[in-house]
Amino acid sequence: MSSDFFKGIVRVRVPATSANLGGGFDCMGLALGIYNEIVVEKCDKLTIVSDVPAPTDASNLIYSSMNAVFGKYGKKDMPVKITSKSDIPQASGLGSSAACIVGGVCAANAVLGKPMKKADIIDLCTELDGHPDNVLPAIVGGVAAGYIKDDGKVGYVRTAAPSGLTVAVATPDFALKTSDARAALPDTYSRKDCVYSLSRAVVTFGAFASGNVEALEAIGDKLHQPYRIPLIKGYAEVERAFKASGAIAVCVSGAGPTVLAIFGQGQAKNITLPKGWTLRTPKVDNVGVIVE
Ligand code: HSE
Repeated sequence: MSSDFFKGIVRVRVPATSANLGGGFDCMGLALGIYNEIVVEKCDKLTIVSDVPAPTDASNLIYSSMNAVFGKYGKKDMPVKITSKSDIPQASGLGSSAACIVGGVCAANAVLGKPMKKADIIDLCTELDGHPDNVLPAIVGGVAAGYIKDDGKVGYVRTAAPSGLTVAVATPDFALKTSDARAALPDTYSRKDCVYSLSRAVVTFGAFASGNVEALEAIGDKLHQPYRIPLIKGYAEVERAFKASGAIAVCVSGAGPTVLAIFGQGQAKNITLPKGWTLRTPKVDNVGVIVE
């Protein structure tokens, strides 16, 4: 491993993610075909070009994530030029921050000649994001569920989404900061509410893994959704619109405010959302991050 390795250009494509999937709070998510494309080039001075509002100094999340890798390998503060083009809406519950973290860590790893294995990348990205439910599917693609082992490393399972399953996401014209959406959550829960979410999370992953799309109607939650839905003005109307179009399940995407709907065979069709909401119908990304 040597910085001499970094002679060319590193290109990274990271998918958006929808975390939680109802009861899989902080542990489960799926990758979506909406991307942040990051190009990293050699440069004498840190230079950051982004098509979305983002800091252009060392506090930039892509760069600070790169720097977490550089620091591990004795290259702290190594200057680079970063160009980021992202179609993932910010502060929307579609993993835009996780995409920056995964993109930065994977790009820096490539710049240094790939000293990190996939497991090291998953561990570091989880540490930087605080939980694996966005970074994990962004790295491995498909539907992924992770947990933190007693030694602090991340263990996980993943499955490709069943063919025939289609998704839609509705994003409102207002943002919701993850920190605000987390501040709304209680510190303790009743056993009944824990079992409500736990049972649904287990069946949800099993439904994805076995291809039993109809069983995804189990998606539901009492750990975060009841406290966040009041922060998402219009949620009930959007849920009704999705259900009227045949959605099997509807849930808050990540910390919100985006709403995720899962449909069976055939594209989600004839969905009329309330004013101020944007509809996207991305494919599930079964590949995960790509580094060239
Ligand atoms: N699991 C996280 C949450 C995802 O719901 O707060 C957003 O970071």
